[in-house]
Amino acid sequence: MKHLFRSTFMTRFGPAAAITTPVSTSSPRALRDLPGPRAWPWVGNSLQVDRHRVHQQLEAWSRRYGPLMRVDLAGMEMMVVSDHAVIAAALKARPDQFRRPSRMQAIVREMGIADGVFLAEGAHWLQQRRMVMGSFAPNQIRHYFPALRQVTSRLQARWQRAADQQAPIDLQADLMRFTVDAVSGLAFGVEVDTLSSDGDVIQQHLDRIFPALWQRLNALVPYWRWVRLPRDRALSHSVRAVNEAIGVFMRDARVRLQDPARRLAPPNLLEAMLVAADEPGSGMRDADVAGNVFTMLLAGEDTTATSLSWMIYLLSRHPVAWQRARDEVDRVLGPLATWQVDDLARLDWLEACIHETMRLKPVGPVNVLEAVQDTELAGVHLPAGAAVMLLMRQDGVRESMFPHAQDFRPERWLGDGAGLAPDHARRVAMPFGAGPRICPGRYLAMLEIKLAAAMLLKSFDVISVDTPDGREACEHLDLTMVPEGVTMRLRLRA
Ligand code: HEM
Repeated sequence: MKHLFRSTFMTRFGPAAAITTPVSTSSPRALRDLPGPRAWPWVGNSLQVDRHRVHQQLEAWSRRYGPLMRVDLAGMEMMVVSDHAVIAAALKARPDQFRRPSRMQAIVREMGIADGVFLAEGAHWLQQRRMVMGSFAPNQIRHYFPALRQVTSRLQARWQRAADQQAPIDLQADLMRFTVDAVSGLAFGVEVDTLSSDGDVIQQHLDRIFPALWQRLNALVPYWRWVRLPRDRALSHSVRAVNEAIGVFMRDARVRLQDPARRLAPPNLLEAMLVAADEPGSGMRDADVAGNVFTMLLAGEDTTATSLSWMIYLLSRHPVAWQRARDEVDRVLGPLATWQVDDLARLDWLEACIHETMRLKPVGPVNVLEAVQDTELAGVHLPAGAAVMLLMRQDGVRESMFPHAQDFRPERWLGDGAGLAPDHARRVAMPFGAGPRICPGRYLAMLEIKLAAAMLLKSFDVISVDTPDGREACEHLDLTMVPEGVTMRLRLRA
């Protein structure tokens, strides 16, 4: 099948550069013709990268070899793209031209986790996506706001206890409790109170999954199919524990759904999915529902907590920006119990701080796609099954796009006249992805970040935000890019 369509974009390749097309008439370059670091036999470039810093190595190579290059990682030759226009085009060409990597889907299934909307493909994905979008729409989140405020006050109480005891706070871990509690209420109608407990909570099991997935995705040999190391046994235990908890959520939701009125208007994602699964010929099974509950817990937890951690860290290093955020919060908001969604919408400076944080420290600095069919991307031929790695940060920290690109300058998101207009800037930075698979949780995430940050600014003085070695926080990639070992000390605000 030759030449179906050709889309053109203005990029640094010139106005007529074809960005995505399923096989064009002109002769495209082959993957092996792209520049890239020299690969060793069998191991390729795998031994030249540390899997927790692979994004930094790829970014360094892309500065050297250009916006389109070739690397060979984890036994796969892949095209690596850092040009935002090409990235956006590839993301938009889903689900027909590109999908998420089938290798990721296989590894997740092997772990005992059913597909949810993140890993589903084709018609199955579309069906789940529609349902998920309904539950995360801004008006749903508005209804849920009082519960989110309640979760925020539990975080406040937790941090108050730490302040009273002058104890250091493990920032990432506490924020993950906050985000698990926040998403559980909205998506499943279940109050999972991990914030009030120090015991064995679901969040501790979830914490094992992203690192294990990242380690397996990067493995040259799938050793776990033959040998189970202690970490593999711990992973199985955690997946089982989360699946059991999900089983309880589903059982309780089915009991609630005995109310016919609730069946007619299911108030949360879990109940909506169960009602849909019960429809004859729906194609949705209980396993799909369970897969989506797992997906929401995973996708909603780490990402939001990590963005918050990075923002608190960056604000702590920029006292002028911190003070401006605090002044804004003091001006706009009264006591926590009185906050409304519309009040939070007026925190323009805080919102600019979130965008600036996600530009410098995107949770997902790499996103990987796989060609569904023989296709072409920016003039490079990709056979079906070829992997394309997208470097999501590179153009966002390019001086030509963002003057003083390495600096934390939230004012650029308020249209200060320097650099790109905010709307265009968002299309370059893309922290939530782009196209039909853009993050459905983005409104919820922004609200959670604002709530937790505003609560912190309003209630506490930060004594310190520390890294393990007193230097700049290290970016540790375990599927998401987390600030390594950051702790915070608080004092109750006078
Ligand atoms: C700051 C927080 C967050 C960030 C930075 C973030 C980022 C992302 C990114 C980059 C993607 C991939 C998009 C693409 O491939 O184009 C994604 C997908 C997804 N996110 Fe988020 N996310 C966040 C919060 C959340 C929350 C709170 C939820 C839900 C509770 C969520 C649920 C999902 C789901 C279900 C997908 C898969 C969508 C699909 O494949 O159709 N995310 N997110």
